[in-house]
Amino acid sequence: MAKTKVKTTFFCNNCGAQFPKWVGKCSSCNQWNTIAEEIIARPDKNDIKATFNIVRNSKPQLLEDIKIADIPRIKLPGTELNRVLGGGLVPGSLVLFGGDPGIGKSTLMLQMSLRLKGHKTLYVSGEESEQQIKMRAERIGNKNPDCYILTETSTQNIFHHIKELNPDVLIIDSIQTLTTATIDSSPGSISQVRECTAELMKYAKETNTPVFLIGHITKDGNIAGPKILEHMVDVVLQFEGDRNHIYRLLRAAKNRFGSTNELGIYEMHGEGLKEVSNPSDILISNKDETLSGSAIAATMEGNRPLLIEIQSLVSTAAYGTPQRSSTGFDLRRLNMLLAVLEKRCGFRLAQKDVFLNIAGGIKVDDPAIDLAVISAILSSSEDIAVPPTACFASEVGLSGELRPVSRIDQRVMEAEKLGFDKIFVSKHNKKGMAKLDHKIEVIFVGKVEEVFQNLFG
Ligand code: TYD
Ligand code: MG
Repeated sequence: MAKTKVKTTFFCNNCGAQFPKWVGKCSSCNQWNTIAEEIIARPDKNDIKATFNIVRNSKPQLLEDIKIADIPRIKLPGTELNRVLGGGLVPGSLVLFGGDPGIGKSTLMLQMSLRLKGHKTLYVSGEESEQQIKMRAERIGNKNPDCYILTETSTQNIFHHIKELNPDVLIIDSIQTLTTATIDSSPGSISQVRECTAELMKYAKETNTPVFLIGHITKDGNIAGPKILEHMVDVVLQFEGDRNHIYRLLRAAKNRFGSTNELGIYEMHGEGLKEVSNPSDILISNKDETLSGSAIAATMEGNRPLLIEIQSLVSTAAYGTPQRSSTGFDLRRLNMLLAVLEKRCGFRLAQKDVFLNIAGGIKVDDPAIDLAVISAILSSSEDIAVPPTACFASEVGLSGELRPVSRIDQRVMEAEKLGFDKIFVSKHNKKGMAKLDHKIEVIFVGKVEEVFQNLFG
């Protein structure tokens, strides 16, 4: 009698490498403790033969002879999603859309399918029932006569329906709930996620249909499933934000069809997500009141200038070791700026608690924010308010020198547009500036101390 033995194998969670037995360290990506056991089915012998029979009709071509047909992109409703995707949705692209639970991934995708008039959309959900989706659609309140809903988790069944329906855009909510019959392991496991993605990729490329895959993320912010998933897809979008705030940020972590430094901003309301077209207005809380400890930074997010408020609180440390805490700003960078203030400018902050907060729950990587951070800290420490009509755009170096930042003209223009009358920038930015006769007073400074003499006298 033939023995029926379940065949299992071991996969690395991080890179997807396969091992015959468990090991502590993945020899392919050198990560520890990432190997997990999974049940797999032995592929059918006929299948193996079939894969060897593929007729390849590709042939090498001269790069010079290849013509770029202008890729006709599908214009999605609203400007934010289009911009983050690099100017619209490319047909045949596979987009992975990740984010924390409850952040609004399903809402954004359903909203998009309901507003995409003139295109047949299929929203496949493995997480919610038709009634739940209908209730959500009622809240969002848009109607697309060509929006179809399917609640199904088996890829074979999904493809069966797709063949009949032939949608223009396919949305899968979520990739971790899908299963394919070719593999025995449970939904959400590494091999299932990889196989289902591969099947959907094949579908997207062969039929030139764009596919959105909603993906869960793990507690350290990576997309759940093998890292290889991110290599397979064309675009990786991330939806982030603080659940206690209404703002949601959409970024591209990878984009084969455009830049990755664009940012889309949404507000979550009772009736779905609303786009924010002028973010600077909402990120500056109160321009009329003068309170110490706040300063405005002129930053850039991708190609878009953004003025944001930095708040700081400096108080005498109650316990031995002073606390340093920051939200939205790198803590190591904060410690470095504090050291610069201590050593180069003679401010005694070693015995003080320093708290830093960026308004709206936004995370900023732009180094031009440094000068505003320092100004907010000193304003709180000295308890003198920074004039509410002044803003800052400069990086601070280790010797307290102010370093030039990119796209200075755009930053100055945005500050002028929002009614600021002073902007502090590095003197090294002067020669790169296109026009110097702004209505706003541009103050060129070389060192941190000069800024403080100017501000606090
Ligand atoms: P959801 O899209 O289900 O999140 P995800 O798919 O990323 O897990 O969003 C759920 C949250 O959004 C939920 O907590 C309620 C909130 N929400 C609104 O505030 N307004 C709305 O119109 C909708 C549909 C949801
Ligand atoms: Mg969801």
